[in-house]
Amino acid sequence: MEFQNLIYDTKNNFVLITINRPKKLNALNQDLIEELNHVLKYAEEDDAVRAVVITGSGEKAFVAGADIKEFSEFTVAQGEDLARKGQALLFDFIDHMSTPVIAAINGYALGGGLELALACHLRIACEEAKFGFPEVSLGLIPGYGGTQRLPQIVGKSHAMDLILTARMLGAEEAYDISLINEVVKREELLPKAYEIVGAITKNAPHAIGQAIKAINNSFHNEGYEIEKQSFGKCFGTTDFKEGVDAFLNKRKPRF
Ligand code: CAA
Repeated sequence: MEFQNLIYDTKNNFVLITINRPKKLNALNQDLIEELNHVLKYAEEDDAVRAVVITGSGEKAFVAGADIKEFSEFTVAQGEDLARKGQALLFDFIDHMSTPVIAAINGYALGGGLELALACHLRIACEEAKFGFPEVSLGLIPGYGGTQRLPQIVGKSHAMDLILTARMLGAEEAYDISLINEVVKREELLPKAYEIVGAITKNAPHAIGQAIKAINNSFHNEGYEIEKQSFGKCFGTTDFKEGVDAFLNKRKPRF
């Protein structure tokens, strides 16, 4: 398969995926989600691939969210479908992989971009990285598992703060609240990711897969389904029209 939106690099016993739409700050459109699914499926099925590292191209963004332009005219049903498909192909897919996936966050990780990082099993970031859930400023909620994985990772109190205020935070604060595992200098980001790959892959691969499965199963709930429906409902509101129009026309929304 030819990839238009990502670069795929096979290393010794792992793969490096670089999300590659730098002009749109690596925003996740449908094609990119399908391409990521294709590579991740291959990585999961090939026993020679013992880990995956995901990063973004350029110095500005890991992923600045779902592609707002792509869904700006969506209806309630299309909105819910977007969440369902995205979660099945990418976010739940990664979470449930038995091959460990590490997010190497090289810049903005916003909205769907932060959700992608949260779905990965480990997260490291460079000092310049910025994190946040801007969805409520668009009349939406996180729809790719963020309302579930954020409180699992940082606790309900920080999750309420970040999702309801839509504020952005830097790498140090993200580390302080355990949103990320480590902060390093930009030039050390990939070397650190590879070091973690080395630490994991010296262990038994079957046991790693079972450990991921067991840890994930301590977090079973119905929230993911409620999130998809609630995300869809937002698409029927005038707030959504106002929020998205404001973003596309580079102005502040008036709610
Ligand atoms: N979707 C589509 N395009 C995006 C994008 C996104 N999420 N983020 C950035 N872009 C585009 C911009 O429209 C711009 O394109 P043009 O050059 O064609 O105008 C280009 O990337 C560069 O962006 P900016 O000019 O805005 O760069 P900046 O440095 O001024 O600002 C930023 C950077 C603060 C990250 C700003 O781009 C921004 O706020 N982006 C949107 C972030 C966001 O709201 N993310 C959540 C999306 S909704 C979501 O993810 C839903 C979900 O949970 C499923």
